[in-house]
Amino acid sequence: MLIDLTGRTALVTGASSGLGKAVAARLAASGARVAVLARGEDALAAAADAIRAEAKGEVLPIPCDITDPAQRDAAMGQATDRFGAVDILVNNAGSSRRGEVETLTRDGVVEDLDLKLLAPLALIQAVVPTMKERRWGRIVNVSAVVGKAPDGGSMPTSLSRAAGLSMTRTLSRELAPWNILVNALCVGKIKSGQWERRYEASGKAQSYEEFLAPVAKTIPLGRMGEAEEFANAACFLVSDQASYITGAAINVDGGLCPVA
Ligand SMILES: NC(=O)c1ccc[n+]([C@@H]2O[C@H](COP(=O)([O-])OP(=O)(O)OC[C@H]3O[C@@H](n4cnc5c(N)ncnc54)[C@H](OP(=O)(O)O)[C@@H]3O)[C@@H](O)[C@H]2O)c1
Repeated sequence: MLIDLTGRTALVTGASSGLGKAVAARLAASGARVAVLARGEDALAAAADAIRAEAKGEVLPIPCDITDPAQRDAAMGQATDRFGAVDILVNNAGSSRRGEVETLTRDGVVEDLDLKLLAPLALIQAVVPTMKERRWGRIVNVSAVVGKAPDGGSMPTSLSRAAGLSMTRTLSRELAPWNILVNALCVGKIKSGQWERRYEASGKAQSYEEFLAPVAKTIPLGRMGEAEEFANAACFLVSDQASYITGAAINVDGGLCPVA
């Protein structure tokens, strides 16, 4: 299926690494103008250069901590000044935060909700007015399978993700009359920066693939996902071809999650 996003403006958070970088690259290669956000300036600039290599559309790196309201507003302003209104928002920035109940702190829970729920909601609030005017919009909230099927010890991530799935469903119904489609992609275990950091922290006594092998064994398809496989799903959801899909929470997990 040929996906053409020419003329669309996209904003992807957490796009300096892993899944967000792969999504931004796929959207740019499909013709979209893409604003890419993350905190680390050097990694973001390097990612933007790599994305530009395959891009048909323009790529604009904007250093931004999405949990900081002033930085978020400034980033949105920069993106729209350069590209015009945002047609496609991919709320992807996030990190893994989980622990046994005794280890949870109020601050940790609040920080996780801020990053994975409240900052994405604020970005959605910023893009909805112009999406309504244009009667076209695509919002993809990157989530995790623990939002549907939490493991023990998976808070606060599982809490934040479950709330994010509720937000996705609520907004899909509220915004449908304006042809603004809101969906979630629930990640299982996909190779990315966070897995590379875990490998580094392990001391690298074995190869990366050997390190990942026990994880891969838990997945029905028998392997970890690749970021590009995730990007394919995201690119489809933001395209015209996905015109009748809203309110969905689609697992991209190699069959891992017991809940569809
Ligand atoms: N890969 C998996 O197996 C998996 C599983 C479940 C869920 N997920 C979710 O998938 C999404 C992508 O993660 P990933 O696996 O691709 O990890 P990753 O490679 O570590 O990428 C995370 C991205 O988010 C950015 N980020 C983090 N905090 C941010 C903030 N406050 N403001 C702006 N950007 C921020 C990071 O850049 P900076 O640090 O420079 O800001 C980076 O670009 C996350 O929401 C993650 O929770 C992934």
